[in-house]
Amino acid sequence: MQIKERSGGEIGEIGEIGATVEGFDHVTASDADIAALKHTVYTKKIAVLKGQDLAPQEFLALGRRLGRPETYYEPMYKHPEVPEIFVSSNVPKDGKQIGVPKTGKFWHADYQFMPNPFGLTLIYPQVIPEKNRGTYFIDMGKAYEKLPEDLKREIAGTHCRHSVRKYFKIRPNDVYRPLSEIIDEVEQKAPAVVQPTTFTHPMTGETVLYISEGFTVGIEDRDGNPLDEELLKRLFDATGQLDETFEHDGIHLQSFEQGDLLVWDNRSLIHRARHTTTPEPTVSFRVTVHDERRLHDGIKAA
Ligand SMILES: [Fe+2]
Repeated sequence: MQIKERSGGEIGEIGEIGATVEGFDHVTASDADIAALKHTVYTKKIAVLKGQDLAPQEFLALGRRLGRPETYYEPMYKHPEVPEIFVSSNVPKDGKQIGVPKTGKFWHADYQFMPNPFGLTLIYPQVIPEKNRGTYFIDMGKAYEKLPEDLKREIAGTHCRHSVRKYFKIRPNDVYRPLSEIIDEVEQKAPAVVQPTTFTHPMTGETVLYISEGFTVGIEDRDGNPLDEELLKRLFDATGQLDETFEHDGIHLQSFEQGDLLVWDNRSLIHRARHTTTPEPTVSFRVTVHDERRLHDGIKAA
């Protein structure tokens, strides 16, 4: 196994996003290899494992080497044979829709709306679009560092409320149901959660600004009183989440090719599927895992 950093730099140094890993085999990798890979993910935020040729069961087995898989709570996303795999697809298989099309076209961290989000996301693209390939990322640790000092002071001690409600996808079975009934079900199954606006990354010690335009729906002071929404908008703006041209300094476009498997730090990174003007066939598999620590130390075991 050989790890190459994109920006030169020392292995393990927090710098430019991304590293590539050649010759990784989840079956033969030693525990030291796995530890080195995870260290790369925490410090470089995205590791691209090259040349992977894995059946769905093998992809899950690779995920298990990195942590405990979390199966997505809505069944329509599940892979028919391996339910731990979340399928994003606009390509019908034998005339049937598998998984869900057009997922994640908004800034978010995975499972941010859940009480116990996982630390690592693995994406294994299956059918890759010709033109608009790649995923946008923002490192919210770096974004926090770059905030103006007065904004940092303003959010100190605050909390944010996260919910799936804006982007919950209507399921085939929801046809003919009253919208109010669906909304009630969403709020009951996945009630909004409150997290500190910033937390300390348990693996690196960085301060992470844990907000996203897709899932963060409110901000409150240390006593739980709602604060002006304008404050959230200023944070989204400062971190690049309102930039529809994707030219903001903090936005990183991660490309990939057939055989690539991406592992990223779901504590630090928010991401967004690339906008496509012409729909191209796209399929990707996702496995998400809890590593040795909670997302942050403020989350207590259930
Ligand atoms: Fe996602």
